[in-house]
Amino acid sequence: MSIRPILIHPDPRLKKVCPPVPAVTDEIRQLADDMLATMYDAPGVGLAAPQVGVLTRLFVMDCIKDEDAAPRPMVLINPEITWRSDEQHTYEEGCLSIPEHYAEVTRPARVRMRWTGLDAQTHEEEFDGLWATCAQHELDHLDGRLFIDHLGPMKRQLITRKMTKLKRERARA
Ligand code: NI
Repeated sequence: MSIRPILIHPDPRLKKVCPPVPAVTDEIRQLADDMLATMYDAPGVGLAAPQVGVLTRLFVMDCIKDEDAAPRPMVLINPEITWRSDEQHTYEEGCLSIPEHYAEVTRPARVRMRWTGLDAQTHEEEFDGLWATCAQHELDHLDGRLFIDHLGPMKRQLITRKMTKLKRERARA
């Protein structure tokens, strides 16, 4: 298991619609293991494959925030939303590819998702609370969408300018 570098916005690889995972191979299992290690190390509650430069439809998440509770690492391959609640929920989102910036995003409060697991079986589950927000945020990544794409153009451009500056500073250091 190894920690992979996380791409920082703006990066063209974060804007791509990712193709599906054709089969659950050793390479995919390795990717999922590395992504979970990378997510816990960051730390974050979700990470999508394009964020580590792999353009394929896979994300990991674990929204258990209580440190005393057992972790629940989840790997979702080729996920799709099969149902969305009419009820909406606003949550202050962040992203490991947009460090230190947070903004309120409104999304369906609950979603039902279907995906393939590492066991190559189909799974389906309804998510609510932070799990629902995280699952939708990560699925967006697989379609080249970031949480700032849900904001107005002014706010999005401001954050993007700051990220460009941060990347320039990091490249110089
Ligand atoms: Ni993100």
